[in-house]
Amino acid sequence: MEDHLHKRDHAGVQDFVLLEDYRNPEAFLDNLKKRFHEDLIYTYIGPVLVSINPYHELDIYNHDVIHSYKNVNFYELPPHVFAIADSSYRNMRGESRDQCILISGESGSGKTEASKKILLYIAASSTHSRDVERVKDRLLESNPLLEAFGNAKTTRNDNSSRFGKYMDIQFDYKGAPVGGHILNYLLEKSRVVHQAPGERNFHVFYQLLVGAAPLTLKQLHLDAGPEKYFYLNQGEDNSLQTMGDQANWRAVQHSLDVLDFSQEQQKALFSIVGSVLHLGNVKFDSDEKSDMARVTNPEIVATIAELLGCSEKMLLSALQHRTIEANNEKMKSPLTVDQALYARDALAKGIYDRLFTWIVHKVNSSLSNRCKHRCNLMGLLDIYGFEIFQVNCFEQFCINYCNEKLQQLFIELTLKSEQEEYQKEGIQWEPVEYFNNKIICDLIEAKPLGIISVLDEECLRPGDTTDMTFLSKLVTTIGKHPHFISHSVADTSTRKTIQRDEFRLLHYAGDVTYNIKGFLDKNNDLLFRDLKETMTESKNPITSECFTKEELNSKKRPDTAATQFKTSLAQLMVILMSKEPAYVRCIKPNDYKRAGQFDERIIHHQVKYLGLMENLRVRRAGFAYRRPYELFLKRYKSLCPATWPHYSGSARDGVHALVSHLGYGDDDYRIGKTKIFIRFPRVLFATEDAFQKRKHELATQIQAKYRCFHQRKKYLRMRISAILIQCHWRRVLAQRLLKRRRWAAGIVRKFVKGFKYRNEPECDENREFVKFTKMNWLQRLAVAAPKSILDKSWIVAPRLLQETSGLLQKLNTKNLVLRYVKKTSPAQKIQMQQKVVAERLFKGKKDVYISSVKDHFVDSRIAVHHESLKNQLLRQVNETVKYCIYVTKYDRHGYKSRKRVLFLTDTTLYVVEEKEFKIKDRVPYDLISSIQTSSLMDGLFVVVVTSKEENGSKEDQKQIERGDIILQSDHIIETLTRFTMIANKENVLKIATGGTINHDLTSGKQGCIEFIKGDNYLVKKGKNGQLLVVDGSSSNALIGSELGMMTDRTI
Ligand SMILES: Nc1ncnc2c1ncn2[C@@H]1O[C@H](COP(=O)(O)OP(=O)(O)O)[C@@H](O)[C@H]1O
Ligand SMILES: [Mg+2]
Repeated sequence: MEDHLHKRDHAGVQDFVLLEDYRNPEAFLDNLKKRFHEDLIYTYIGPVLVSINPYHELDIYNHDVIHSYKNVNFYELPPHVFAIADSSYRNMRGESRDQCILISGESGSGKTEASKKILLYIAASSTHSRDVERVKDRLLESNPLLEAFGNAKTTRNDNSSRFGKYMDIQFDYKGAPVGGHILNYLLEKSRVVHQAPGERNFHVFYQLLVGAAPLTLKQLHLDAGPEKYFYLNQGEDNSLQTMGDQANWRAVQHSLDVLDFSQEQQKALFSIVGSVLHLGNVKFDSDEKSDMARVTNPEIVATIAELLGCSEKMLLSALQHRTIEANNEKMKSPLTVDQALYARDALAKGIYDRLFTWIVHKVNSSLSNRCKHRCNLMGLLDIYGFEIFQVNCFEQFCINYCNEKLQQLFIELTLKSEQEEYQKEGIQWEPVEYFNNKIICDLIEAKPLGIISVLDEECLRPGDTTDMTFLSKLVTTIGKHPHFISHSVADTSTRKTIQRDEFRLLHYAGDVTYNIKGFLDKNNDLLFRDLKETMTESKNPITSECFTKEELNSKKRPDTAATQFKTSLAQLMVILMSKEPAYVRCIKPNDYKRAGQFDERIIHHQVKYLGLMENLRVRRAGFAYRRPYELFLKRYKSLCPATWPHYSGSARDGVHALVSHLGYGDDDYRIGKTKIFIRFPRVLFATEDAFQKRKHELATQIQAKYRCFHQRKKYLRMRISAILIQCHWRRVLAQRLLKRRRWAAGIVRKFVKGFKYRNEPECDENREFVKFTKMNWLQRLAVAAPKSILDKSWIVAPRLLQETSGLLQKLNTKNLVLRYVKKTSPAQKIQMQQKVVAERLFKGKKDVYISSVKDHFVDSRIAVHHESLKNQLLRQVNETVKYCIYVTKYDRHGYKSRKRVLFLTDTTLYVVEEKEFKIKDRVPYDLISSIQTSSLMDGLFVVVVTSKEENGSKEDQKQIERGDIILQSDHIIETLTRFTMIANKENVLKIATGGTINHDLTSGKQGCIEFIKGDNYLVKKGKNGQLLVVDGSSSNALIGSELGMMTDRTI
């Protein structure tokens, strides 16, 4: 779609400002024409939209197009009425300023259509919540309803607005429509009773007759054909089908439903519409004598009375009579037929006019904004356009006056004030000449010499006043005015074109000749009191609301129609001036409502009177945008670091700093006295775009700051809470500590007391202490009690537990012993027994004992290679060997040493030679009377052999004779212990306490062995023939084993 638009847009320029020859009206028209023939009906003059009525449907209002214009900068897309709507809407939202869109142009130029498109755009582009949809629906639905009652077909326009409409749409701060309000201006009510040829009455009458269900028509006593009704059949055009009345009827029904008209109200509404139709058919005649009017068809009056819910009699009377008050007396005066017809029409117009106003009020209450917050407003003015008919009456006079006022406003705001502003602001400026229509406005509205004043005066003046007296008064008062011409004051050529009952005004938009017929009546707008009274009695809810008793009783004369209109226009101007205006200037391409026909003559005329050329010239020379420094700075200051967030200097300097920061070119802007002027829209748009972007950044910053603030607040709250908790917790801890300390102090005190009384018998003071002491000692003991039998330590027990301690120590030792014993193997047990015996025999008696303690006692100490010899020997003696060891034997004669092996069997001691294990000595244990050894470190011992019994065996005898055996064992303690145990002869061991041992030598001689202490172990024959043994007790070697290092006999 956009593509399509773009392509076609190459025809002409889309902004007249871009026209090369912008001063030439031909070029202007040519551009319009080119575009018109391409169906490009919109063209800009800067921000003003010029629109030509295409008179055929264009596909440029669909949803996609609406969407494409949403939030797009004004000049980015081809000109469109949506762009105007969007720009106003955005200005309103962005700057919170009320807006108004002024749509002007003559009748049939497309104003109403444009206003509908704007409404459509606003509805489609704002947000979609349920409430907003409701409002939008109502805003949109107000149109078909008001058009049905207020629009009619004229020669200019098939759907001509016969009333002025100003609609305020109210928006909330989010830009969603929340309500609306409509002001209506002067309905052309004369149309109710009369239409010019080719024209129609208001649409609603036809819609009702064509569209309503037969039952409804029957209830209203109506027939379907409009030609039956006088009020509809004067205009001769009853082409109902072409107007789509049937479809429009349904649309009206729908609107009524949406706008909350109750069924009862709808019924009342159409009863009034029906009654107006019936009223038109009331006929009068008179008898020749009296000229008194008489209703010829009273049954119709009955129907009207039924529809309006009033008394038939009263109505009938009011249609035929008039009550006159004179000297406080009321008199009924009959009406003439003309008066009666006048009264009838006045009633029809009065009812319809008030009905229309009532509908507007009702629509307003349905549109009313429910929320009470401040709203932004967007006003939409769609008022009747300038019109020139064949015969122009009071209505045209009012309508054209209204258009003069709007043109005045346009001039004020665009041409005059703009140029004045440039001058005021000291901007270099070449003034553009234009026609100011103020002179015409003054001609119409000035007091006391304006047309309206003169008219009012004529209406109010006592005496006979007629339309003609009014005209002559006009001639006398304003006859010389350059914009006023009448038959009497016109020059001869002009005079031919003006009748005597006409006057001509040279309006800004053209000359209009007004026929004065009906000016006074219409201005007086008189409705006879009797009729009013009848209406106040009405049971029809709408009529009774429209005609109030207060009005009836009011003595004040109401303002004339023209004055009322003048006042309401003045109010409208105030409203419009207070808002930021946007303009749509509508142009009608031809007088025949025909598509594609570009009538240069009439278009040229419109361009001229609309002041579009002047508008263009001012625009070309002027600036697209201006704002007081304060406002400009306020809006855009965030775009420059120097002005954000506050600028300390003057607003003007701030703006200067801002625009230089934004990189404005010299020609882009001017600095005025109080305002900045920006020449090109694109510069402003770039700034605005930057601002929109910046706004998001700022919003993010604000959010961040707020989040920070929020979090910090939370943090501080948490911190305070944490401190509070800590505080309380510290208190709890301190309280607990205090409690503990108190308790501890109590315990210490108790302990001290207990200590003092510890030796007393158990009492309160010492009970705990004693218990504690016991416990404590026991606990310590549990840890410190010896774990091994060798550990003799024992913790000291308090006095109280001395006895226990002793018992426990014993118990512990026993226990340890028991455990030790349990752990001991049989072999260890034997070893132990042997060690015990060794201890008993030698401890403290022989020095070498100490060094033997650590060594295990063994059964055999002979080498492996001697095992077979050993076994051989054992087989020989047939005994069990209990112990064997290498020993050294010293001869009894000469003490020569021999290497021998000692065997201890169950019964006998053998000494065998080492080489072949030949038995050298065999001594049964019985023969051994003692075994002697020294107390020193040596390994020498003497086996003393004696006979107890004389009758021993020969062998024994021999052995005895050989005398004692002197042996040396490196393991003397082991050897001797084993011997005593095997032989079971503990008592035979003798340890010499002196330094010598005597022994028997062979053949009964006595030998002596002398033991001395010395450094090196030595056994040798002494000088005195004795055997000298030096024990080597000082040698270190002795520490290693019993005697291991002393001899070479060790295994
Ligand atoms: N934009 C348009 N597109 C199509 N037809 C249009 C357009 N504007 C006006 N018309 C036609 O012209 C007729 C008169 O327009 P309207 O808006 O009623 O004129 P005005 O309100 O100025 O008297 C409409 O009924 C419609 O047929
Ligand atoms: Mg209109």
